[in-house]
Amino acid sequence: MSVQTEAGRGELAARDSNGAPVLEAEDVSVRYGGVMAVTHVSLQAYRAETLGLIGPNGAGKSSLLGALGGQLKVSGGSIRLHGRDVTRSPSYARARGGITRTFQTTSEFEAMTVFENLMVSARGAKGASLGHTVLAWRSNKAEEAAARAHAWEILDRFEMADTASAYGRELSGGQRRLVEIMRCLMRRPDVLLLDEPMVGVAPHLVARLVADLRRIADDGIALVIVEHALEVVRELCDRVVVMAQGRVIAGGTYDEVVRDEEVRRAYIG
Ligand SMILES: Nc1ncnc2c1ncn2[C@@H]1O[C@H](COP(=O)(O)OP(=O)(O)OP(=O)(O)O)[C@@H](O)[C@H]1O
Ligand SMILES: [Mg+2]
Repeated sequence: MSVQTEAGRGELAARDSNGAPVLEAEDVSVRYGGVMAVTHVSLQAYRAETLGLIGPNGAGKSSLLGALGGQLKVSGGSIRLHGRDVTRSPSYARARGGITRTFQTTSEFEAMTVFENLMVSARGAKGASLGHTVLAWRSNKAEEAAARAHAWEILDRFEMADTASAYGRELSGGQRRLVEIMRCLMRRPDVLLLDEPMVGVAPHLVARLVADLRRIADDGIALVIVEHALEVVRELCDRVVVMAQGRVIAGGTYDEVVRDEEVRRAYIG
């Protein structure tokens, strides 16, 4: 894939606003050796929409997310981002095209402050280490200043400015989640993929994180969220896709899918 320029992305994003999906999977399959984890799945994600992906353990939800983000190779089907085929594009190229996903918590995350975590995730930051980023910015002070301003804007927006100089290891589960999400937002994504974002979040903070995710979608980002907590899905997701054994078994609003017979058999019981 040719790497899209900033201007190119702007135009494409504007085109998406007339109702075309930002991200589209068509007939996607993923296999691990002999195991078919995802079988002929099609779905679409739209701007300003929250799409929930639910289903029993082993249904293939994380594998599908990996296929969308480019971390996993598909064994069949195609993926389009802003209408362009990215099926063979590596994850970093898709990230430049606007897809991002929450990172696995790393040792670096723990050993950096919240502010540093955001700065290394800025668009244009080279590599994931602080040293690399600082080196890259020595030659581009304007870019660094813009990234700093953007980091503060995001911290203020999520009421996390107080934690800017706290280390990753000092944060609560909910704060870590928020930092992961804020790191993604530093890249100004069009699509945000979240795999079980509520895991490790204290129950009294779940509603807040739901509201934060809603606001992110309202800003025009397409959210794709794998989530087991059905009350979160009900609150947050405009549309829900249900998977079981690698396949999509239902799709629609939350109320529609929970009434579906097959969904009740396979998942809700
Ligand atoms: N790295 C791997 N190697 C082999 N098989 C795998 C691998 N990762 C997942 N699988 C298998 O692929 C299938 C789908 O797994 P996946 O993790 O995508 O499901 P999931 O819906 O995310 O489940 P969960 O809700 O438990 O996270 C399962 O049968 C799983 O055992
Ligand atoms: Mg999973």
